[in-house]
Amino acid sequence: MNQEALLAWYERNKRPLPWRLDPSPWSILLSEILLQQTQMERGIEYHERLLKRFPTLSSMAESSVDDVLLLWQGAGYYSRARRLHALSIEVVEAYGGVLPKTYEELLKLPGIGPYTAAAVASIAFSEPVACVDGNVRRVMARQSNQEEPTANDVQRFADKHLVIDSPGEWNQAMMELGALVCKPRNPICDQCPVSETCNGRTRPHELPRPKTTKKTTVEYNCIVRIDENGAPELQQRPQTGLFAGLWGPEMATDLETNGCEFVGTIRHLLSHREMIVSVWKTVGGNGIDPLSVALSSLDRRILGLVGVIDDVP
Ligand code: ADE
Repeated sequence: MNQEALLAWYERNKRPLPWRLDPSPWSILLSEILLQQTQMERGIEYHERLLKRFPTLSSMAESSVDDVLLLWQGAGYYSRARRLHALSIEVVEAYGGVLPKTYEELLKLPGIGPYTAAAVASIAFSEPVACVDGNVRRVMARQSNQEEPTANDVQRFADKHLVIDSPGEWNQAMMELGALVCKPRNPICDQCPVSETCNGRTRPHELPRPKTTKKTTVEYNCIVRIDENGAPELQQRPQTGLFAGLWGPEMATDLETNGCEFVGTIRHLLSHREMIVSVWKTVGGNGIDPLSVALSSLDRRILGLVGVIDDVP
């Protein structure tokens, strides 16, 4: 692969993302955690609002986890928010509030896996470590015409091609190529700066072969109790499990709904699970203002359906 050509392409075509225009280790860390499971457009939106409220790592450490969850509402994968808050506290306690600079130290922090440690160490601190994410895997599978590269295959490819002098730029160039040109469905091979070395050029659509992820379907009943003022009763969910620490109406697979009025059914997709939720309402309970607490997107859809908050798109 022609590394010079890819770096030159990146320099000309990189998106002007907020954490590229005004980089800091904290801003970069925040972006990498958000982008792992959130689309770019939404990632930018949440990055902006989180950075505004928590301009430094220490400012997050001084806040409660509920404050962080409140801002994370709608971004999904809430354990990321909880771990990031835990990370901020640990970095204040162990490193005086300054993010450590090495891959090995970063890897030990809450919520930081090999990908994030490599991304932050290389982009923020220029440590020569290669990132492996879905983009890199796809570029590798196509360059080497391999349908099912193992994690080791991809790591070896990434390590071999890493440009030691500009690891942050290189890692981002690989990911940017995967995001803008070597795309999953409609790759633009005509515009690819490394098409000359691409062995998968005749069949990019077949590379890599998609991993089959079976979603399990789970059915729930949810009862929204509405008090005399029209406010819903909401409880904070347990600190572990689905939607940990977020608030919502009572919901379970085995919930008795005698005496409740059926409102409708919501089908909600998570990464590994399909939820079919039968929504019921009844009067009573101790209502609270639903806008004062962190809700999952599913709970906002439920409360929208019963009409106690404005529906969300
Ligand atoms: N996706 C996640 N992190 C990225 C980065 N730093 N550059 C390009 N795409 C990314």
